[in-house]
Amino acid sequence: MAPPPSSATITGQMITTVLLLLLLAPATHGARSMLPRTDRDLLEFSLNLEYLEAEFFLHGSMGRGLDHIQPDLAGGGPRPIGASIANLSPMVRNIIMQFAYQEVGHIRAIKSTVPGFSRPQLDLSVKSFAKVINKAFGRHLWPPFNPYANDLNFVIASYIIPYVGLTGYVGANPLLKSDTSRKLVAGLLGVESGQDAVIRTLLYERAALRVMPYGITVAEFTHKISRLRNKLGHGGPKDEGLFVPAYQLGRGMITGNVLAGNTNSLAFGRTPKEILRIVYGSGKEKVPGGFFPKGGNGTIAKSYLRKRKLDDLSSHV
Ligand SMILES: *[C@@H]1O[C@H](CO)[C@@H](O)[C@H](O)[C@H]1NC(C)=O
Repeated sequence: MAPPPSSATITGQMITTVLLLLLLAPATHGARSMLPRTDRDLLEFSLNLEYLEAEFFLHGSMGRGLDHIQPDLAGGGPRPIGASIANLSPMVRNIIMQFAYQEVGHIRAIKSTVPGFSRPQLDLSVKSFAKVINKAFGRHLWPPFNPYANDLNFVIASYIIPYVGLTGYVGANPLLKSDTSRKLVAGLLGVESGQDAVIRTLLYERAALRVMPYGITVAEFTHKISRLRNKLGHGGPKDEGLFVPAYQLGRGMITGNVLAGNTNSLAFGRTPKEILRIVYGSGKEKVPGGFFPKGGNGTIAKSYLRKRKLDDLSSHV
């Protein structure tokens, strides 16, 4: 029979437990706090876009968002405005649902690396998307473009979003200092560009189809959306629709452009500033709007928003 544990062995066990906790605590916290400041800021910046993508795909495919799927990741942030389930065929719904869970994974991965923030206010309403499309065409389409109406509209609306995240990761990568951050960004980039490829392929197959009731081809939609992003981003041509003019050689005479890239077919990179100008729809990183009516969160987005407040103050003096 084993003797009852003496108070000495109990104290010994307690000391071991305390030591273990001390060892484990900095290990789980360490990856976060050890990251250089710029890495942390850039990784946190991308959370804004991942929230946007996650909520759009979750709601579009299932009619419910992060608050149902993994509420702790939303962190009590406000519910997205106007997000809705889309009228999708089983195949497209299935693909979008996979995208949705991929985005949830991305948020989880980012938030386990940097402290991050709660979900910012997002506007995923028909009005918000219709505004982008109207701006892209330079006129009011009637009825307003509804991303949730059918497969084609939803995939066109999807063309608007992950590509911006992709260019952000390409832009952020050379600025990152730690292996941890670069590994994470490579992993995020790989899947974001995969999503973009799937979206573009689905659209490429339907390039000549006319989006009803507007009678405008799918190719023209992509062309106009890409052109708008280039204009808003103000960082040069970093966006291309499903076809490019034949004079852009280096591609032979092939005008098909199922994937966007520069003359060496390297993905384009965008800075946080350019991305904010696009997702705010304002063309100004200081002026929130569009999908982020109150602006993004995190050090980078907030620093621009603060600048605007300062400008406003000084203009009133
Ligand atoms: C930004 O994130 C912090 C931390 O989650 C939160 O307390 C704050 O309310 C957020 N701000 C906005 C404008 O969403």
